[in-house]
Amino acid sequence: MLKAVIFDLDGVITDTAAFHFIAWQKLGNKLGINITEAFNEELKGVDRTESLRRILALENQEQAFSTSEKAALATEKNDFYVTLIEEITPVDILPGISELLDKLKQQNIKIGLASASKNAPTILAHLGLSETFDTIVDPATLKKGKPDPEIFIQACKQLAVSPAESIGVEDAYSGIQAINDATMYSIGIGDSKTLNEANYVVSTTRELTYKKICELWQNK
Ligand code: G6P
Ligand code: MG
Repeated sequence: MLKAVIFDLDGVITDTAAFHFIAWQKLGNKLGINITEAFNEELKGVDRTESLRRILALENQEQAFSTSEKAALATEKNDFYVTLIEEITPVDILPGISELLDKLKQQNIKIGLASASKNAPTILAHLGLSETFDTIVDPATLKKGKPDPEIFIQACKQLAVSPAESIGVEDAYSGIQAINDATMYSIGIGDSKTLNEANYVVSTTRELTYKKICELWQNK
């Protein structure tokens, strides 16, 4: 029986993935590092420090900065990102997501959040969804980031459900790997080529209806 659906945030509940991209590009421009849309796919789901490391590695700049300078660069990106997310309102919840969350609640299916973002509570507050999630994993408590399954396993623990009774929803390749390795059923949102390891892929959140989830669960 399906007991829980555990969601990623950025690019799943709201389109903050685009804001992360804009903020990293701004930092990249300053450092003379071009961040393409294709490379940005590799940053989705990846935490702030590791994202910066991957960006610097593009131009062999990893050794060019001390640890404290890297921390300052990550803070600079985040400060800009925080100004972008200030504008978020409930209108920015991606299509179909509010209806899906309402339906899951009605059916007593638990709702969890498994996001690597330290800004997740702020974003949920802007979206008016702070009370909607039954649990939110605090990424600061984790040992490993996605693609490690830890965050999804932790969400299941917090909801007192087993991974086999749960679905994970992600827009990132690393996130799909994390869900699969947690032995949950994975649903990808986005490009089916990028997310080819997902159990099922929808191109937009609009297609992620409660009816669709039930169908997938019955036929898995
Ligand atoms: C999510 C996003 C990443 C982001 C990470 C950390 O996983 O997909 O793009 O880097 O969260 O977010 P934060 O808001 O803590 O910098
Ligand atoms: Mg995401």
